[in-house]
Amino acid sequence: MPQNEMKILITGGAGFIGTHLTRRLLREGCSVRILDSFSPQIHGNSQTLPSDIAPHVELVAGDVRDRDAIRSALEGAEVVVHLAAETGTGQSMYEVVQYEQVNLLGTAHLMDYVVNNKSSRVQKLVTASSRAIYGEGKYHCPAHGTVYPGMRSASDMVSGQFEPICPNCSAPCEMLATDELSRLSPTSFYGITKQVQEQMTLIFGQALNLSAFALRYQNVYGPGQSLKNPYTGILAIFSNLARVNQSINIFEDGKESRDFVYIDDVVESSWRCIRTDTQGVEAINVGSGERTTVLQVVHEIIQYFESHSEISVSGAFRIGDIRHNVADLTKARQLLDFTPKWKFTDGISRFLNWASQQESNASTYEKSLSDMRERGLMRG
Ligand SMILES: NC(=O)c1ccc[n+]([C@@H]2O[C@H](COP(=O)([O-])OP(=O)(O)OC[C@H]3O[C@@H](n4cnc5c(N)ncnc54)[C@H](O)[C@@H]3O)[C@@H](O)[C@H]2O)c1
Repeated sequence: MPQNEMKILITGGAGFIGTHLTRRLLREGCSVRILDSFSPQIHGNSQTLPSDIAPHVELVAGDVRDRDAIRSALEGAEVVVHLAAETGTGQSMYEVVQYEQVNLLGTAHLMDYVVNNKSSRVQKLVTASSRAIYGEGKYHCPAHGTVYPGMRSASDMVSGQFEPICPNCSAPCEMLATDELSRLSPTSFYGITKQVQEQMTLIFGQALNLSAFALRYQNVYGPGQSLKNPYTGILAIFSNLARVNQSINIFEDGKESRDFVYIDDVVESSWRCIRTDTQGVEAINVGSGERTTVLQVVHEIIQYFESHSEISVSGAFRIGDIRHNVADLTKARQLLDFTPKWKFTDGISRFLNWASQQESNASTYEKSLSDMRERGLMRG
């Protein structure tokens, strides 16, 4: 399909990843339509797209749970990039119906339109999956080789035992980079919904002979991410606190780690999926392949803002959080010829330069923690 004729629908296109991807697609000459409900948790009172993209895209302001909105949005679309979702791991553990409705019913409406509508022109589905579908991911036990530790027990964590242990012999084990054939074992309801979204995309893609990709994004960060949403992104949360010198409570022992992938790399990999002519039904990791601890993140942020925030490593923890994560990117390299360009130290400087010019937003974070504490989903 010539790229300058591609008609692309992005659900959730007003969000962090969606707006960055939209800019890229417009530069590539695609025609872009966005379906977004402007969720207040992300957008506050704003119901508008950024001014640089608003004049160049068609906006359907609506909800993925609304069949009529889906119908209007999908009319004539050739590629659907499905990003609209509720995205908070911790929040998903108590806003259960909301997560089920937006993430699962919303995806069901999309598939229902594509399968039942004879005039559908959709040829390709690209859905945002997540590393959350792996749960703790892949580990190595000296006695049992590759193992997949389950969800960590609250009693272990209360006693300061945060590292996952071998499910066979309870011995300490070592994290490995998680590849796409690793066991799927989400430890949060959010993770379950992303797994089902992904499976729906791949199954309907295969059944209808469409190209279908589920991109398993790791922790995405960069300018433009929501600083209002207290449930996602420790970079946003800690930079909000550091800027106003409020104390920063580091969960567990601070040695938990994540694969932080810079937004430009996420856009690049997504674009490669959209533009490829290769027919495929594939789940692909998208990450940096680099492991960064929470303590490293906090130190970068404190240094940048020359902050006087008091740092406490509290041993507190949230049920459902994972300990470590780093993506194996072999498949992305092989199928998409994708290699991440951004190192964490460079990406975080870009992010903090941007964040320092935004309104500070530390106020809702404590409430999000007390919401979880009240329900026994956070300890400490
Ligand atoms: N950012 C990350 O670190 C990350 C990691 C893994 C996966 N993902 C996935 O990538 C996708 C995009 O994430 P993001 O970081 O851009 O999130 P975001 O919250 O910035 O954007 C999501 C967008 O979806 C919209 N939305 C929410 N509910 C909707 C509904 N019912 N109907 C229509 N629109 C709705 C929101 O208004 C928002 O604009 C999500 O599916 C998320 O699960 C993100």
